Parts: sequence; structure tokens; C-alpha cells
Amino acid sequence: MRAGDTLVRERLSAVRRGAATFFMTILLTGTAGEVFAADPGKGKELYETHCERCHGEDGRGQAAGAPDFTRGAALMVPDTELVRLLRGGRGAMPAYEGLLRQDDFLDVIAYLRSFQP
Ligand code: HEC
Repeated sequence: MRAGDTLVRERLSAVRRGAATFFMTILLTGTAGEVFAADPGKGKELYETHCERCHGEDGRGQAAGAPDFTRGAALMVPDTELVRLLRGGRGAMPAYEGLLRQDDFLDVIAYLRSFQP
């Protein structure tokens, strides 16, 4: 085998490896982003419709007993815990089971987490 052949073959396989990495990256980031990322923009709309009257436009709490989301303490639990809470309701807060879909819960929670003190 001539040295030139080996060089060409090495270059080709490097290009192939590069392409494989490129497509894997698209697969992992692109697809995962679509499937898993919550959308705080959609969460804001849901919040305005379902939550704002009690929790206030600024998230500081309007109804008696409603927590202040800007201080974070009420949100220092995992999303799964908040979804469970919202499905079942608590105290004066109604249950949202059947009213909101799983995606909606995650979107609205992403929005809650965006309130600034
Ligand atoms: C009728 C008024 C009302 C509405 C509507 C309402 N909430 Fe609440 N929410 C409350 C009150 C009151 C509490 C405090 C409950 C308690 O601890 O007794 C609360 C608590 C919470 C908590 C914190 C729980 C904790 O661990 O301290 C979260 C998160 C929350 N609400 C999110 C939402 C979201 C999201 C919506 C809209 C989908 C919503 N709430 C709609 C009144 C409301």
C-alpha cells in the first residue's frame, strides 16, 4: 500500500467521525430540547389565565396565604413535587388535575421560577 492511500483513508475517516459527532449533537440537543424543555412564555399565558388572580402579576401573592414566589422558598422543591401539588390543589388553591396537561404544568412552573425579587 502506498503512503498516499493511507493518508487519504485517514482523512476520510476523520471526516466521517466529525460528521457523526455533528449529527449526534443535533440529535441530542435538538431533539431533547424539543421534548423536555418547558416553555416559560406559554407558562406566562397559563399563569395569567389560571393563577394570577391569587398569586398576583408580580408573583408576590394576592390571596390570603398565597406564597411569595419572588422569595423562592415556596419553589425550593423539584418540579415533580410542584406538579403533584398543582394536580391535587392545597388549602384555598383549587386542584388543576384534568384542567392542565403535563406540559402546561411544566410551562407554568418554569414561569413561576422566573419571578425576580
Ligand atoms: C384561588 C386562589 C389560587 C389560585 C387560582 C391558584 N393558587 Fe396557588 N396557592 C394559593 C394559596 C392560598 C396557596 C397556599 C396554600 C397553602 O399552603 O395552604 C397557594 C400555593 C401555591 C404554591 C406553593 C405551595 C408551597 O409549597 O408553598 C404554588 C407553587 C402555587 N400555589 C402555584 C399556583 C399555580 C401555578 C396556579 C395556577 C395554575 C395557582 N397556584 C393558582 C392560591 C391560589
